[in-house]
Amino acid sequence: MALTAAANLTPTAALQPTSSKISFKTRILAVHAAEPAKKSSTAVEIKSRSSNWAIDSWKSKKALQIPVYPSKEDLESVLQTLASFPPIVFAGEARKLEERLADAAVGKAFLLQGGDCAESFKEFNANNIRDTFRVLLQMGVVLTFGGQMPIIKVGRMAGQFAKPRSDPFETKDGVKLPSYQGDNINSDIFDEKSRMPDPQRLIRAYSQSAATLNLLRAFATGGYAGMQRVSQWNLDFTDHSEQGDRYMELAQRVDEALGFMVAAGLTSEHPIMTTTEFWTSHECLHLPYEQALTREDSTSGLYYDCSAHMLWVGERTRQLDGAHVEFLRGVANPLGIKVSDKMDPKEMVKLCEILNPHNKPGRLTIITRMGAENMRVKLPHLIRAIRQAGLIVTWISDPMHGNTIKAPCGLKTRPFDSIRSELRAFFDVHEQEGSHPGGMHLEMTGQNVTECIGGSRAVTFDDLSSRYHTHCDPRLNASQSLEIAFAVAERLRRRRIRSDNVFVRGKPEGAVN
Ligand code: PEP
Ligand code: CO
Repeated sequence: MALTAAANLTPTAALQPTSSKISFKTRILAVHAAEPAKKSSTAVEIKSRSSNWAIDSWKSKKALQIPVYPSKEDLESVLQTLASFPPIVFAGEARKLEERLADAAVGKAFLLQGGDCAESFKEFNANNIRDTFRVLLQMGVVLTFGGQMPIIKVGRMAGQFAKPRSDPFETKDGVKLPSYQGDNINSDIFDEKSRMPDPQRLIRAYSQSAATLNLLRAFATGGYAGMQRVSQWNLDFTDHSEQGDRYMELAQRVDEALGFMVAAGLTSEHPIMTTTEFWTSHECLHLPYEQALTREDSTSGLYYDCSAHMLWVGERTRQLDGAHVEFLRGVANPLGIKVSDKMDPKEMVKLCEILNPHNKPGRLTIITRMGAENMRVKLPHLIRAIRQAGLIVTWISDPMHGNTIKAPCGLKTRPFDSIRSELRAFFDVHEQEGSHPGGMHLEMTGQNVTECIGGSRAVTFDDLSSRYHTHCDPRLNASQSLEIAFAVAERLRRRRIRSDNVFVRGKPEGAVN
């Protein structure tokens, strides 16, 4: 949500539910009518590219990772209810995010995307939402200071429930049951009844997403996120941890800068100072749910998946001819693509062409997740292929999913040092290739959990079981998240200084004083 833009919440920008009675042809015409004519494309070309897309055309493709429900009728009835519910986000907000991401593609902004691996019904409360939001704000301040550029804050929040699983079954003590697929599908309790997909969970996930977003909107625009409060966000770090103290030092510098601005006559009442922009995102996995939340935008005539501002296609479901890619190519939200070391550069180019045929800046964010070593070898080829094809994408790093290991106690964890190394490799490769490191995507929480090992507070293997609360993958805790932000801010600062120097050296003699 462009949470500062109250105009986006007016009825004119609201999306109308798609009537199931609208014919296939009518829907497609609505999409074409709203598409801006591109110089390079004739009307015929535009038509032929999307003429075979419909809100449910994904159903004719192979759909991986979609749960099978015991009753088709019960699922249908839930989906109809969801389709009649209001949208969770608005098209105008998603468009604004796309504009911001276009800046990140060219090095003029940096994306900070983060939140739980999987949101859960059990951990749903105001404090958890506030704490994750607050750490994202703190990280935003640290990164803004280092990069001296806008930080685009996108939560993995308000809809990040469904999980792709490498193994559809889990076996414990000789008993084999379907794997847990996320709280919107089944329960993580290990018994037959709990593991059965239940469509009513989709309604609960919708309600939780709407309530989470409601609170986030209030935090973002109601004064909590104001620049004057940078020091107060630190209350969690009362035990004077290293990262908390570092943050406090920086917050004091921000306070001084604000004091200077006010003394110099600049107003501190401007929305830029008192509110923040914040958006939501999740993996576009449960296609029946996503379709039910997809609406035709009354202003542009385009289709938006109104379950979140940004959606990404996961590593396991990004097949060129698969259902997830088919669905996503027809919705106008900004999209992410998760990419491991298995991605072939030619396939990458094809996927981008399918999802972004008009090469719109900000439409595609490539989220690389492959571990530091693979990144140094593979990422240069991906960057070169994209460049040679003349495509515009926003490159960001997910340093979490390529660095999961099993601890001796059996729990999944991620070493802080591996996460840092992957981010370091990401910056190094972009520096070497002359491309832009556009952001990072983290699994993190504002809670003081013990799920990832390492960091300055040194979580050890032995600590893991004391506060291990995640419903899927291990997350960085508040202190580890802030520590990552400081490290990345330093890289952004170095890039900025280097490019300032290049700029100064590039000026004609005598032009610099
Ligand atoms: C995730 O982001 O939680 C996830 C499953 O990622 P990936 O598709 O990259 O494995
Ligand atoms: Co995950």
